[in-house]
Amino acid sequence: MAYKVAVLPGDGIGVEIMTEAIKVLKQVATKYHLEFELKEGLIGGAAWEKFRDHCPEETLELCRNSDAILFGSIGGSVEEEHLPKWENGNNKSLIRLRKEFDLYANLRPAKLYPALASKSSLRADLAEKGVDILIVRELTGGIYFGQPKGREGSGDEERAFDTMVYSRREINRIAKVAFDAARSRRKKLACVDKANVLTTMVFWREVVDAMAESYPDVEYQKLYVDNAAMQLVRDPAQFDVMLAGNLFADILSDEAAAITGSIGLLPSASLADGSFGMYEPSGGSAPDIAGKGIANPIAQILSAAFMLKYSFHLDQASSAIEKAVDELIAEGKVRTPDLGGSHTTSDVGDAIVEKLLTA
Ligand code: IPM
Ligand code: MG
Repeated sequence: MAYKVAVLPGDGIGVEIMTEAIKVLKQVATKYHLEFELKEGLIGGAAWEKFRDHCPEETLELCRNSDAILFGSIGGSVEEEHLPKWENGNNKSLIRLRKEFDLYANLRPAKLYPALASKSSLRADLAEKGVDILIVRELTGGIYFGQPKGREGSGDEERAFDTMVYSRREINRIAKVAFDAARSRRKKLACVDKANVLTTMVFWREVVDAMAESYPDVEYQKLYVDNAAMQLVRDPAQFDVMLAGNLFADILSDEAAAITGSIGLLPSASLADGSFGMYEPSGGSAPDIAGKGIANPIAQILSAAFMLKYSFHLDQASSAIEKAVDELIAEGKVRTPDLGGSHTTSDVGDAIVEKLLTA
């Protein structure tokens, strides 16, 4: 049986780093006698060029007919952001995919590799303690999607509004993902909210508290989001799994990524119930370095490894990729410029393939 993958490279460095992820997937297929059916689709500015639509029906249909989505990145440079190719509809295409496929569970690991401790934005004594956090972000609800949403009126009375809303069902399902993840890791969970001010978040905390009772083996902690942001830079080693709603986790996950020093290394998974998921690098399309062949492909390659694990349950193949990446980083011989090296995107892909070959 072939695993069907919708490959959406998107814009900017997405195309270059996706090439490397596919190289690695092909190597894995040979090594483990697997078959992947990889079909490419257009998304973001690339889709707009052809269809005048950032998220065309053709691409949605491809995704519907696939077992998983491997996503690159979307978006253009700040200077060009006023062009229709990059305007708001672009980000909306990402949000649309999340909603369309009910990808409510977003897993965003932030791991500091010991060999890269000097890249961290943290003081050496803090970085040395290590960082290995999994942020579990609710991805299809909260203030991103709540209704009503809009603008009305004019002049001084013109107003704009969004609505933060969560149902018990939405909180329960993401909390379960987070507690289960904690169970498989260091058994610690931090619930991040703003229950001191927002009614939505009082409810959020209440529902997560109740679930904590079914996980007596998981050490449970609650923090307000402002404190969580501070603790993250003060002492990130204290955290294992952090659970938060859509907006707060959006912010915290960028902060956590900066702490690890290289956003070019971090994959992410957005999961629906069952095995469907979308996998993408945590970083963006990095238009400033696009087309130069120097982008770090590791986040994309690890996203492919996540896909093997979460959508296809190919744990052995997934671990083999992760191990190859770990070794490459620890050795420090083949590195792209973001990690202080002078190798190209494809050098890194080749080196990982080579490691898989000889493993
Ligand atoms: C992210 C991004 C998106 C978000 C944007 C591009 C819509 O910041 O995936 O974290 O806010 O969710
Ligand atoms: Mg973000």
